[in-house]
Amino acid sequence: MPLTGVKNVVLVLSGKGGVGKSSVTLQLALALSLQGKSVGILDIDLTGPSMPRLVGLEDAKITQAPGGWMPVPVHSAETATESTSQTQRGSLRCMSLGFLLRDRGDAVIWRGPKKTAMIRQFLSDVFWGSTDYLLIDTPPGTSDEHIALAEQLLTLSTIDAAVAAQSGVPRLAGAVLVTTPQAVATSDVRKEANFCVKTNIPVLGVIENMSGYSCPCCGEVSNLFSSGGGQVMAQELSLPFMGSVPIDVKFGELVEGKMEPGDSDDEEEGETPQTESQEAPAEPDDRPLVERYRETWSYPRFEGFAQTLVNSIEGPAAAS
Ligand SMILES: Nc1ncnc2c1ncn2[C@@H]1O[C@H](COP(=O)(O)OP(=O)(O)O)[C@@H](O)[C@H]1O
Ligand SMILES: [Mg+2]
Repeated sequence: MPLTGVKNVVLVLSGKGGVGKSSVTLQLALALSLQGKSVGILDIDLTGPSMPRLVGLEDAKITQAPGGWMPVPVHSAETATESTSQTQRGSLRCMSLGFLLRDRGDAVIWRGPKKTAMIRQFLSDVFWGSTDYLLIDTPPGTSDEHIALAEQLLTLSTIDAAVAAQSGVPRLAGAVLVTTPQAVATSDVRKEANFCVKTNIPVLGVIENMSGYSCPCCGEVSNLFSSGGGQVMAQELSLPFMGSVPIDVKFGELVEGKMEPGDSDDEEEGETPQTESQEAPAEPDDRPLVERYRETWSYPRFEGFAQTLVNSIEGPAAAS
């Protein structure tokens, strides 16, 4: 059975690329994991399967098991112990078309029916096992491909919570729409909302990304002239507004590596974040991504978004 063991499926949608859909997917996943949920990310964005890069696992090889392709572990579950004040952490695993493509340039050769077939196969052929939340990073837009994807998802899952609870079929809980203040002006959110109406997929909320600028030192948000449009738009369309996310340099460095003056391109994996002590030689930070993510200004926001999602999907009692 495809998607066996998956409880809830959440789609992350955006009208166009570059608005931070993959970043939002990743941060929702990390925040849900920090709420103790076991999480999977399925990256089916053929226009730019960026998840392997964002989670720092570009070289990971995926393996095939009797149940299907095995997702790549990003971090394992951790049970709360008496010695730590930390709450329980759920596992995070990731499957991306990027793992299957030899280099990023390969994406362009996949077109039309071949592309759709590959996405279909990807939806059904990954062995997720027990997973509370499967977040799907979708290709940007509202094209035929999306309709095909939604139709297939609706055959593998149900939007009816009661049916899901009784039958064990995964619940397609809904979609999170990502926009930027700029994208709002081009009414991308409207198209996304229409897409959800057309396909019967509930809208869980709208997130306005790159909304203002978060000071790397204190987290204070400035440059608010370019923010707020997403909220107005959500109100106009009667969609729940989850909140806005400023540009967060620390988060950018976490996933893209730290840029120094004179850096030409990528490959900054070994770079260390700033430490408290200025004299200490820079030690590589070997902690898992999820632990380093806790220290960004974005985390408290996504913690709130994750709670909102769990509340609206599982009910208020389930959110920690
Ligand atoms: N809130 C943010 N703060 C800082 N950088 C961000 C933020 N959102 C996205 N980015 C960066 O912007 C770039 C594009 O984001 P990405 O998530 O890949 O967009 P999309 O998936 O919509 O194409 C990435 O380099 C990402 O690290
Ligand atoms: Mg992306």
